[in-house]
Amino acid sequence: MIHNFDTVIVGSGGAGLYAALEASARSKTAVLSKLYPIRSHTGAAQGGISAALGNVEEDSAQWHAFDTVKGGDYLVDQQAAMILTEEAIQAVYDLENRGLPFNRTPEGRIDQRRFGGHTRNFGEGPVRRACYAADRTGHMILQTLYQQCIKNEVSFFDEFQVVDVIIEDGSCRGVVVVELATGEMHIFAAKAVLFATGGFGRIFKITSNAYANTGDGPAVCARRGIPLEDMEFYQFHPTGIMGLGILISEAVRGEGGILRNRDGERFMERYSPTLLDLAPRDIVARSILTEVRAGQGIRGDRRIDDYVHLDATHLGKEVLDAKLPDISGFCRTYLGIDPIDAPIPVLPTAHYAMGGIPTDVHGRVVIDREGTIIDGLYAAGECACVSVHGANRLGTNSLLDLIVFGRRAGQHIAEYVKDAPAPRPVADADEFARAWIDRLLDGADGPHGGAITDEMQVTMMEKVGIYRNKADMSVAVDQIQELRSRYQTVRVQDTGSRFNTDLLELIELGNLLDLSLVTAVSALHREESRGAHSREDFPERDDDTWLKHTLAYLEGDEVRLDYKAVDTSIWEPKPRTY
Ligand code: FUM
Repeated sequence: MIHNFDTVIVGSGGAGLYAALEASARSKTAVLSKLYPIRSHTGAAQGGISAALGNVEEDSAQWHAFDTVKGGDYLVDQQAAMILTEEAIQAVYDLENRGLPFNRTPEGRIDQRRFGGHTRNFGEGPVRRACYAADRTGHMILQTLYQQCIKNEVSFFDEFQVVDVIIEDGSCRGVVVVELATGEMHIFAAKAVLFATGGFGRIFKITSNAYANTGDGPAVCARRGIPLEDMEFYQFHPTGIMGLGILISEAVRGEGGILRNRDGERFMERYSPTLLDLAPRDIVARSILTEVRAGQGIRGDRRIDDYVHLDATHLGKEVLDAKLPDISGFCRTYLGIDPIDAPIPVLPTAHYAMGGIPTDVHGRVVIDREGTIIDGLYAAGECACVSVHGANRLGTNSLLDLIVFGRRAGQHIAEYVKDAPAPRPVADADEFARAWIDRLLDGADGPHGGAITDEMQVTMMEKVGIYRNKADMSVAVDQIQELRSRYQTVRVQDTGSRFNTDLLELIELGNLLDLSLVTAVSALHREESRGAHSREDFPERDDDTWLKHTLAYLEGDEVRLDYKAVDTSIWEPKPRTY
């Protein structure tokens, strides 16, 4: 079936919905999602959205931009960071005006809490910058934007899985998708396509990411010759529920929660004397692992799955009930404890991709170091790389990124489609997608994908995780290549057409394998430590050689690497201390 729209948005999280909201004001817009929109993973961003409103203490967009640049270990493009933090303020008020129920100060202003790496006056001490709706900020953003999109008569195609993007003569013409309810293939022809498909944390064994976070947008683009930027920078959130990875929001520490080792020591005093438990995430995650490796985890046996405690027992029932109700619920459900009575067992969990589809500040996809664009192709949110997070994202800057750059992309699309040529079908546009899916469904004997998924996740977790080295990553690259070969023989066990989740999981696995390879190769080649990329064999940051963005091109079984300059036009890179 062929559909015609001016604008097609793939993904219905915060970035996709905000872009749809803007684009739909002036163009016929469709949102395609593998989920129902309000189940998108934006809902898992619990603790807040940062903006220098200055509602509870003095703050400025410039301080916020500086923190973002320093937090990202100077791999951030600095003008983009200024756009992020200057537009943050209006973006938050726009959300408020559209109906988002933020927590309030006693005077009725939007309340603000602390989050990691956010400081006053260029690093002097922590500042309250995160605007929040209890620990459901992401959920509230989704609800607010979804309702507004319905009002704007956006067409939603729920449970449609993207399989390919159509690019011809340097322009994007649409996407190819599978309707999960029927198994039918659809072509959506469009003047503009925006990918907002979220992250790909499912390449790792322990992750805060939903099962749906399989990097469909970046993988589809990579297979069509679009590079992926800075894929070696993958963030581990310090506090996932031990063994499960479910997120325990940084807001717990923002409200005063403390990390403790087996002696009850507040060990962050040794690693970050100024910001303590609210140092940037890369630093806190490494500190936890260093404690565990030194036998200072709670069990003290140096095992990789030993853990530390997040102590919220002193916060009081009122704070936990009013500001962290979901977290308290998770602890009761998954751990059988109440955080008012007992500390929470936590370990770092794979959380967020700093890298992704390269874009300019209007969300236009760029394909090389010169900044060449593909007409009509856009990306925003976690699947994109603007780059405002550099080597390590600050907490609450993800929701902000979605809103600011989702909105900018939507506005640019609305202008672009006015004069763009009408969408037209491209001959055999679904050829690649059909061949892939027909092979998976052809009924031939072949292994199921489960074992491959498991091996991929364990390999990435153990060999391309928080601490990395050449020997481990070389093995990881070989193992992922071997898994990609095995993937060529997999087959579904369910050959039906209705809600074939077996088929969906194999499509997703193909995407995850491609992204694992790009991540591992990019990481292997960056011979320095910066932000979340921590090399045991190259422990120092090396600005002389490595102050540059990686561009990784997936070319069949090979990954070709190129590099492009970082915008350091405002602040000269300095060593990071907190
Ligand atoms: O800890 C959190 O609430 C997560 C927020 C984020 O990743 O920005």
